Amino acid sequence: MTQIPESYNLQHYLYEVQQRVEQHLAVLLKDARCHEKLDRAMTYALTGGGKRFRPFLTYAVADIYDVPHEEADSVACAIELIHCYSLVHDDLPSLDNSELRRGKPSTWKQFDIPTAILTGDTLLTLAFQVVAQDAYLGTMTRSALILMLTQESGARGMAAGQMFDLFPTQPTNMEAILEMQKLKTGCLIAASCQASAIIAGASASEVNFLKQFGHLFGLIFQITDDLLDIEGTADSMGKPIAQDAGKNNLVNLLGVAESKEFLVKLVGEAMQLLEQLPHKGGMLQAVIPWVLNRKN
Ligand code: IPE
Ligand code: IPE
Ligand code: MG
Ligand code: MG
Ligand code: MG
Repeated sequence: MTQIPESYNLQHYLYEVQQRVEQHLAVLLKDARCHEKLDRAMTYALTGGGKRFRPFLTYAVADIYDVPHEEADSVACAIELIHCYSLVHDDLPSLDNSELRRGKPSTWKQFDIPTAILTGDTLLTLAFQVVAQDAYLGTMTRSALILMLTQESGARGMAAGQMFDLFPTQPTNMEAILEMQKLKTGCLIAASCQASAIIAGASASEVNFLKQFGHLFGLIFQITDDLLDIEGTADSMGKPIAQDAGKNNLVNLLGVAESKEFLVKLVGEAMQLLEQLPHKGGMLQAVIPWVLNRKN
């Protein structure tokens, strides 16, 4: 098992992950070139400003299982591709109608709506291609990863969560909101946490443990995003704030103070889960305060 030195700095690790992901995404974009405008739109949507938080989780779990980062690269990039596709579609006028993303005009605003729709389609499709053709991984591992990604991002995962967000099927209550947020944000974060355990050939119960942790962490991540919509600034967020007034989310249901109390409870549960992992989760534990204190 990799020894993670205590002095290993979170900011340094985040920076290394960002550099690594940017490099790999640049190669993928180069290989995917076909239609000049679509190429520009894909590059625009994928590069420049994302925190790369989901790949960070994948590499952090890779370290726990002693998986070389080369073996985690394709799935880390696939998850970031799925995430970026979801943001491109999320910003569309018929979804959240957001004109700003990562401090720049959102993809539909910079290009046009048809291009943004097709950019989302191509980023999503590329995600599966990248894993399917990864020469570092065996056939069984590749197919297990692809299956997991479809489950977490599709009709019972992120896409369903976006649908419940836009078209709730029951009156607003805590349970319904938690389920919606688990689907729309938790599932892809759960994918990021499971991926390296799958590559390592970990047992089903270990993979499931990381999935549960990911769902919990996803909820923490989404509640902090919803709080930032009220307490953050558009400048630091790089996306419009005060967009969620009247929306179906936990902060609107409970209010800011009670949501923060709930967040403290969730963080306690997440920390407890991490105690059960080698190195107490290593970088996973270090990144929790970063998520809580982030400004974007
Ligand atoms: C934004 O995710 C969407 C949510 C789930 C709240 P991030 O905050 O990870 O977005 P980027 O990739 O850093 O821009
Ligand atoms: C986004 O939730 C979730 C997905 C894109 C799947 P939000 O709509 O709250 O994300 P932001 O605030 O636009 O980044
Ligand atoms: Mg949304
Ligand atoms: Mg949105
Ligand atoms: Mg938001």
